[in-house]
Amino acid sequence: MRNVTVDNVTEVVIDSLGKHADIPARQREIMESLIRHLHGFCKDVNLTHDEFLAACDYLGRAGAMCSSKRQEFILLADILGVEVLVDMLSNPVSGNETISTVLGPFFRENAPILPKGASTVQKSFEGEETVYIEGYVRDVNGKPIAGAVVDIWEDAPNGLYENHDPDQPDYNLRGRFQTDESGHYACRAIRPVPYPIPSDETAGQLIRYMGHHPMRPGHIHMFVVAEGYRPLISQIFDSSSEYLDEDSVFAVKEELIGEFKKAPEGSDTDLVLRFDFTLAAANPQKAAAE
Ligand code: BEZ
Ligand code: FE
Repeated sequence: MRNVTVDNVTEVVIDSLGKHADIPARQREIMESLIRHLHGFCKDVNLTHDEFLAACDYLGRAGAMCSSKRQEFILLADILGVEVLVDMLSNPVSGNETISTVLGPFFRENAPILPKGASTVQKSFEGEETVYIEGYVRDVNGKPIAGAVVDIWEDAPNGLYENHDPDQPDYNLRGRFQTDESGHYACRAIRPVPYPIPSDETAGQLIRYMGHHPMRPGHIHMFVVAEGYRPLISQIFDSSSEYLDEDSVFAVKEELIGEFKKAPEGSDTDLVLRFDFTLAAANPQKAAAE
């Protein structure tokens, strides 16, 4: 094709797909839609060449920010609501299972395995409020799931996760807890505080370009796994936190809001939080037949 025009360029590029080498159907589907949307976007906003060059420079700088400690593109996707959208598309709710939400960039594998009821707090901060968190992990029929692993992580009262704060001990405020025979889990932690997502460099530039703010409401991350069930990546949000209605990454779901209540007299924590999880079977047909 020698005469590429504004009107035919989209079809010309799509026609090139698989012309010189076979490509799988899914690859074709992804590329065709990507080309249509990218071309549509450029036409919609009548993108100028200067804006195009600025975008290329921006993406180059975002790539240079990536390291084993920081994945800038996940952050950019979060700011644009893309991670929460992909999560909802990948984990459609089909019954009464607990809803998922974004993993975020601060998860670390291999958190310490702690005994039931133990504390994840290795370093205390002034003014922190301790909380006893407990609940049950069950299947969609209410049957307790024994041996499920509840992986928990949260920010410190200074708004930083341990791996972004050289003054916190390794794996502070992180731990994995197993459910007992009745599906019960328990741990001690602290009330999470609202914090800004990393907003220096390119993520911050995008937030400012959108005229948004970087704050997330106070939340505790939970990753629940059990053999035979779909892994659940979710968060519990503090019902009294600021920013519940304006989360910078759009991850709040009504049913994930939990109440941090004042602990009964004589307790060894300031607060208590009860939160139950319901896991969907990995293979619902097999589970129904059993
Ligand atoms: C988080 O919840 O830790 C998070 C999620 C998305 C972007 C940044 C942080
Ligand atoms: Fe978080």
